[in-house]
Amino acid sequence: MSTPENLAHIGVVGLAVMGSNLARNFAHKGHTVAVYNRSPEKTRALMAAHGDEGAFLPSETIEDFVASLERPRKAIIMVQAGPATDAVIEQLAEAMEEGDIIIDGGNALFTDTIRREQEMAARGRHFVGAGISGGEEGALTGPSIMPGGPTESWETLGPLLESVAAVVDGTPCVTHIGPDGAGHFVKMVHNGIEYADMQVIGEAYQLLRYAAGLTPAEISEVFREWNAGELNSYLIEITAEVLAQVDAETGQPLIDVIVDAAGQKGTGRWTVKAALDLGIPVTGIGEAVFARALSSSLEQRRAAQGVLPSGELATFDGDRDAFIEDVRRALYASKFVAYAQGFDEIQAGSEEYGWNIDPRDLATIWRGGCIIRAKFLNRIVEAYDANPELPSLLLDGYFLGELSGLIDSWRRVIITATSLGLPVPVFASSLSYYDSLRAERLPAAVIQGQRDFFGAHTYGRVDKPGAFHTLWSGDRTEVQTS
Ligand code: ATR
Repeated sequence: MSTPENLAHIGVVGLAVMGSNLARNFAHKGHTVAVYNRSPEKTRALMAAHGDEGAFLPSETIEDFVASLERPRKAIIMVQAGPATDAVIEQLAEAMEEGDIIIDGGNALFTDTIRREQEMAARGRHFVGAGISGGEEGALTGPSIMPGGPTESWETLGPLLESVAAVVDGTPCVTHIGPDGAGHFVKMVHNGIEYADMQVIGEAYQLLRYAAGLTPAEISEVFREWNAGELNSYLIEITAEVLAQVDAETGQPLIDVIVDAAGQKGTGRWTVKAALDLGIPVTGIGEAVFARALSSSLEQRRAAQGVLPSGELATFDGDRDAFIEDVRRALYASKFVAYAQGFDEIQAGSEEYGWNIDPRDLATIWRGGCIIRAKFLNRIVEAYDANPELPSLLLDGYFLGELSGLIDSWRRVIITATSLGLPVPVFASSLSYYDSLRAERLPAAVIQGQRDFFGAHTYGRVDKPGAFHTLWSGDRTEVQTS
């Protein structure tokens, strides 16, 4: 049991890699950190390996752990999402007192966070669902943190979280996102955008490799060059590293020995499900999630390979350097769409749940620490600075200016990919989204006609207000229904 003068500023429950690294990060920043894990071996292992890095208070029971925290107690849960998180919340809530703060730092589904916050509030406990991005390295050296929950908790927690978050241009990559599930919602969409961002990089690789015929090492160089410009980002940087890697066992590029079946843990899927419920088209993210699913349908792919006819395929005979530049531009434009759609989803979620999220804040705290950190996020901050009510990110002056320089390349790349039989689901669907947004007429008029024909669902007219129905099985005159 700790003495009163030797209490911890914060505690971490769950000492797998993310939890251990976050605890060490707090300790490195001068905080006394209480640590607890269900199996005490992990706690002992953390102490043995890193106990000398700062002030830790290890406990082997949840009661001792809670007793080692200064009031109001603040404990961050870093265990698996789902039932494990519920179990730990219950144990903490039991052992804690009025006004204490339980923080869930895992990737919880935001609706679970809303529920948990209500349950905890009813018991006088504060509950904060906090998205933490940056992987293992970020947790240790400075993640991007997206806390939701009550404003009151943020006032207590803010300085602690600011001290461990990544810092860009003097600004810590953490801010209070909004009440209850806002933090986990935003982290979910962040991950969805990450899926799209990763997939567009994959599609660019595919085109450079199988259209332009570059080797992985050459593509690595191209990505290094891209990383020096507007596309500068963590994901481009690490892709260059992956492509440069040679497999020690075979001497082949590592990329060629990695099975091309992408895994997923679920946050991309959640982003799309939530978008469907909100009625927001996140086509780039959706295609990225489906592309992973398709890649993992190994049996179906094997059955189709060499069986589905390709039709007559072109061979690439264009200028290689010009094509590389076209691909760079197509990637950048597709990335605009993914972010624009992700921010649309966040705004729709914010309105639906009354979170009052400021999109500018998000772009600011995503500039460092997290997986999608990129130079480009500064452009998003500027866009919302210039107009907080932007109807779409694509309509901001910077994006409009860029798009007029990207659009021809974007179209050319998709034409080339299609004529060569190379799949580009996010590049192509993003362009369709873009062309849909700018179209004066959409085929939705046909859908409305069909709906009225088979279900009398009525349609609006372009020339007068009201709802109308054509008597399709009668004399086909039109009646006004409202
Ligand atoms: P990783 O994937 O890095 O292993 P994780 O699966 O997100 O991390 O989380 C694993 C952590 O959740 C571990 O600390 C685990 O505790 P044990 O070491 O005792 O297995 C913890 N955990 C899982 N289920 C739990 C539960 N029901 N109660 C408490 N902790 C639990």
